Amino acid sequence: MADLPLESDPNLLVGRETSDDAGVYRLTDDLALVQTLDFITPVVNDPYDFGRIAAANSLSDVYAMGGRPITAMNVVCFPVKTMDKQILKEILRGGLEKVHEAGAALVGGHSVEDPEIKFGLSVTGLVHPQRVLTNAGAQPGDALILTKPIGTGILATAMKANLISPSAEARAIEVMAALNRTAAEVMAGYPVHGCTDVTGFGLVGHALEMALGSGVTLRMDSASVPLLPEVLDLVLMGMVPAGSFSNRSFCSHQVRAASGVSAELLDILSDAQTSGGLLIALPAQRAPHLVETLQARGVDQAAIIGHATERREGAIEIS
Ligand code: CO
Ligand code: CO
Ligand code: CO
Repeated sequence: MADLPLESDPNLLVGRETSDDAGVYRLTDDLALVQTLDFITPVVNDPYDFGRIAAANSLSDVYAMGGRPITAMNVVCFPVKTMDKQILKEILRGGLEKVHEAGAALVGGHSVEDPEIKFGLSVTGLVHPQRVLTNAGAQPGDALILTKPIGTGILATAMKANLISPSAEARAIEVMAALNRTAAEVMAGYPVHGCTDVTGFGLVGHALEMALGSGVTLRMDSASVPLLPEVLDLVLMGMVPAGSFSNRSFCSHQVRAASGVSAELLDILSDAQTSGGLLIALPAQRAPHLVETLQARGVDQAAIIGHATERREGAIEIS
């Protein structure tokens, strides 16, 4: 969209200028709309699980802006002439379950006949105009918190090749299908400076957007980043999806990695995520308490993974 002219509406609080998760439009002094759209191709074999994961992934961008979803619409591509309609019903059933878990209403949708399955939601949410969180608010001295373990791109690739254990597969599905609702509700009680969610550009890519948008350097301690089970073994076997590989080269000019950080770990930090966790920047002294509260509310792998400093040569430093 780089060639399209930008909007100049004074009520548009978050538009296309930044690489933020959703658009935010002020309706009144104390109410703004959050709007987002996302749809994806299947990442798991089971259609019901795919529906839950795709819906959680779409709803996440509202949570990342500090908002609360109120309505959603299905976006569906399906080969209706050649595939069993029961599969589509299962996808939509999983999606609806997540919309309801989010406390939102499914109000419609649109479908297209397509040889490749795709599913997601267009989501509308609400936020107070003064409580909008963007990825541009991180400040030097902030700690960085990640609320879900990473590695879903690598695990999804391995699932298709039947290379992971049933327990690792179940954990990956559980993590991807989990809403960021609890994380968003908990963080609303803390002085959060910036937030985004970790999806297709991977942890490093989304951290880089936050660093550039905020004018800071983000230093990540690779050993403290929570990983899904079996991810490291799979990368050692060469199981790195193409998207994750291109993420790593795309960000490389801004990333300074210490010599002790392995190439495998750098691949995982760049791994494209589906329905990843929230990446939260807030004053360091409040961070341990936020992590404790998140874990007590069931966001069990939330962790402090680094902190923000004044802008240095590289926007991302990995130790
Ligand atoms: Co996002
Ligand atoms: Co998106
Ligand atoms: Co229509």
